[in-house]
Parts: sequence; structure tokens; C-alpha cells
Amino acid sequence: MKVEMEEIDDSTICDSVSSLVEGCRLPVHMTGTSDWLSALAEIISIKEVQGSKCYYVHYVDFNKRLDEWVTEESLDTRKVHFPRRDGGSNTGVSTPKKVHIGGGGGGGGPVGSVSRPSSPVAGSELVNGSAVLAAALQKRMNRKRKGPSLESEDSQDGPAQLPPGPRQSGSMVSHHDDIVTRMKNIDLIELGKHRIKPWYFAPYPQEMVNLSCIYICEFCLKYRKSRKCLERHLAKCNLRHPPGNEIYRKDTVSFFEIDGRKNKVYAQNLCLLAKLFLDHKTLYYDTDPFLFYVMTIFDSRGFHIVGYFSKEKESTEDYNVACILTMPPYQRKGYGKLLIEFSYELSKFEGKTGSPEKPLSDLGLLSYRSYWAQTILEILISMKPVGDNEKPQITINEICELTSIKKEDVISTLQNLNLINYYKGQYIITLNQEIMQSHKKAMESRLVRIDPKCLHWTPKDWGKRAKW
Ligand code: ACO
Ligand code: ZN
Repeated sequence: MKVEMEEIDDSTICDSVSSLVEGCRLPVHMTGTSDWLSALAEIISIKEVQGSKCYYVHYVDFNKRLDEWVTEESLDTRKVHFPRRDGGSNTGVSTPKKVHIGGGGGGGGPVGSVSRPSSPVAGSELVNGSAVLAAALQKRMNRKRKGPSLESEDSQDGPAQLPPGPRQSGSMVSHHDDIVTRMKNIDLIELGKHRIKPWYFAPYPQEMVNLSCIYICEFCLKYRKSRKCLERHLAKCNLRHPPGNEIYRKDTVSFFEIDGRKNKVYAQNLCLLAKLFLDHKTLYYDTDPFLFYVMTIFDSRGFHIVGYFSKEKESTEDYNVACILTMPPYQRKGYGKLLIEFSYELSKFEGKTGSPEKPLSDLGLLSYRSYWAQTILEILISMKPVGDNEKPQITINEICELTSIKKEDVISTLQNLNLINYYKGQYIITLNQEIMQSHKKAMESRLVRIDPKCLHWTPKDWGKRAKW
């Protein structure tokens, strides 16, 4: 079965792979899926390894983290679309603007094994071909039914903004890919006991690229070319936790606050590592304006990094998170929501509402939507009636104050949940049994929560300081 080809009518039977060039689109068997399923893919690059050709392909309509090198056996050359002769691209691949729900590999692998990039589809793992197809169909249906849906995030994608020359500094900002940054350049990383397959390009120095694996110290995040080099480093490296202040500890979970100016090298190495899993932001090296909140899990060997988020010291747009990441081996276990919960806890301490920096990735959007929905429902469900026969009352502003979720996110969440109704001249929120039950079930699975009593932190007024 073939995935339907849209909008292109210049397909050609191509008997030989030798005529394939970069920009061609054709069905390709996605690695890790059952072999009857081919997804439409675009050839991004071609290279020769020991006499045989390898093709770097992007699966059209799937997230870029599933891009991969394949050999000719994976290509279905019966229907090839050649790039337009006028040099224009017939694809959306070179400048992917859409936030796609992709398909493919399973979630973060078990400890000690190589983890495959995970992909979201309506809460289920995609591990086989039929699931990939189902995802593609679901996506199309959603698009038809709801119009923009996830793809409404398109508009968030800003203009191309690659780091200007040698400065290469600042935060992470949206950018259009160019040919180099479009392709993964690191095959594998070893971080503590985890071996992880990167999802995207990251600007590690040239000498680190083309190695079979790069070895990263899990405590200071410095990178080395070989295990031997890392062992030499570990013998000297005294860190057993991230630098900065431990501002939260409950059971084995801790948060460290790191100032991007005071701990520049650590912050830069963290950004570099994070870029391997963040597509839509460009890495800059000026970490001064940011704080980094690193979440760790403690065991007898030390405080192991599980994830982090960065936050501007001062945000004119009320952003309370710049970038957020759960390391792949820890994903889909609730840590993302824990990071988000912590970011809102900081905002509560600051007495502000906040929102994550845009654009959100596909997984970021899923996680935030889920967090917002659960947090708001928690409040609505726990409300008590004001008097006999009276319905409980709450304003949007009160929800914002209680949760520190920004007003527009509260409103969009209530709308997404389809809870707002117009009745007898006023807006009312109706909660049915079904939503209350599914909420109860979802909350039961949130085993680890942030306990505000364990947060020892006073917000700084960065605006008052002469310089960060
Ligand atoms: N497929 C389907 N659903 C998923 C997937 C997936 N691969 N990953 C997460 N989800 C859903 C979960 O089901 C959960 O929703 P639910 O509780 O309603 O079922 C929700 O997202 C959160 O799950 P967690 O386990 O708490 O989150 P996780 O630890 O996996 O972290 C995160 C989420 C941080 C977005 C992670 O996927 C990640 O690091 N991705 C790569 C980097 C990234 O995209 N960051 C966000 C960029 S936007 C920004 O930085 C502001
Ligand atoms: Zn180290």
C-alpha cells in the first residue's frame, strides 16, 4: 500500500537508482516499520559508502526526527517525483513550517540501550507500520475536521535567523533550515549509563562530527571523542551534580538553578546537548540572559540529569520557559509535566502568570495542553458551591491567579476541552461525568508532583540590577 501522493503530477517510472538526485520524492520503507508500508520521502542528500550509495531521506508529513540514512533496498523507485527543473522545490521539506505528528520508532529505550526518537499520536506509541499509517490517516482526518489543529502553530514560525557570523550568541530562536542544519550530524551520544540517538542537528565542533559516538560527562556536560578520553576526564571531574544552587529537593528529585552568566561553559554545553532534541530553535552561545533549571534524580553515584528548562531572567512577553527538554530515556514517564509544573511554581512564587516561548514543538504542545487541561480541571472540580442550590463561580482571572497560567492559555484550554457554553445570556462551564472520570484517571497516573514546601527560592528582580 502506498501513501497517497498529493499536489504533484510529474511522477516518472525510474528503473535505476542511478538517476536519483537530491530533491527527488519517492516511497521509502521507513526503518523499524513493517516492510509493506512505504512513506513518501524526499532525498535530502546522497553519499557513497564503500561503493554503495546511501540516501538521507525526510519522510514528508512526519517530524524531522524520523529522517534517516537508508540504502537503495529501502527505496521504491517505481514512482519517483523529480525536483522541478526551475530549481524550485516541490516540497515543504527544505523549510518545514508544519508541526507534524510523526510516526515511527518507539519511545525512549530502556536504560543502557539505544533509544529511538519517539513520536506522538493520540497517546499511543507507534511501533509498527500500520500504526504509522494510522497516524498519517488520523492526521489527515484531524486536518479536515478541525482545520488548522496542530498545524495552526505554523504561524509561530518566524523568519530565517541563523546565528550571525562569529558572535553565535543569544537565545534559541526560530530559523529556516539550511542544508547543513537539516541533517543529523551526530550518530550517537553516551551520557552516563544511557546511549541515545540524537533527533536533530547540533553545532558541535567539526572534530566531534562523523564519530560513531560522542561521550558526554553526565555531570559537567563536557564532551569527549572516545570513552578513554571521557574516563580521563572523569578521573579529574569532581562534579556529581549540576553546578549552581539546589533550590528544590523531594525524595530523589532535585532542581538546580544555574545562572547562564556565572556558569557559562556548563550552560553552553547544556544548550548544545539540548539542540540534539530540539528542532525549531537555533542554538546561540550567549547564555548570560538565561537561568537554567536542571532536574536530577539522585542515586549513590550522584545527581543524574533527567531534563531541564531555560528561562529568561527578564521577559517582556511573560515567558516563563524558553526551552524545555526531557532527556529521551526519561520521556513519557511524567517528567515533562513535572518540569512544566515546576516552571509554573516559580511563576507563582514571582506572583506572575507565564507562558512557554513560541513556537512550541509538536511534543511541547501536547505536553502543555495536557498540563493546562489537568491543572484547570483540578481547580474546577474542587470548587465548592457558594450557597444552597448555587452553582460554583469562578472567573478566568481567578483561574490565572491560582495556576499562574496566562489568560490566553486558560481560554484556549477551556475551548479545546469544549467546556464553555453560552446559556441564558452568560458563559457557563459545564463538566460532564465523562470528563470528570477521565480527569480522575489521568491524575492518578501523575504519581510524582511538585511540592511547593520543598522549593527554597526567592525570585530576583533582574531589572533592578545594572547588568545580569
Ligand atoms: N507521543 C504521544 N504523546 C506524548 C509523547 C509522544 N511521543 N511524548 C509526550 N506525550 C504526551 C504524554 O502522553 C503526556 O500527555 P498525557 O499525560 O495527557 O498522556 C504529555 O505529552 C506529557 O508527557 P510527559 O511524560 O510528562 O512528558 P515528557 O517527559 O515525555 O516530556 C517533552 C515532554 C519535554 C516535550 C519531551 O517530549 C521533549 O523533551 N521533547 C523534545 C524537546 C521538545 O520538543 N521540547 C519542547 C519544545 S517547546 C519549548 O521548548 C517551549
Ligand atoms: Zn565532567
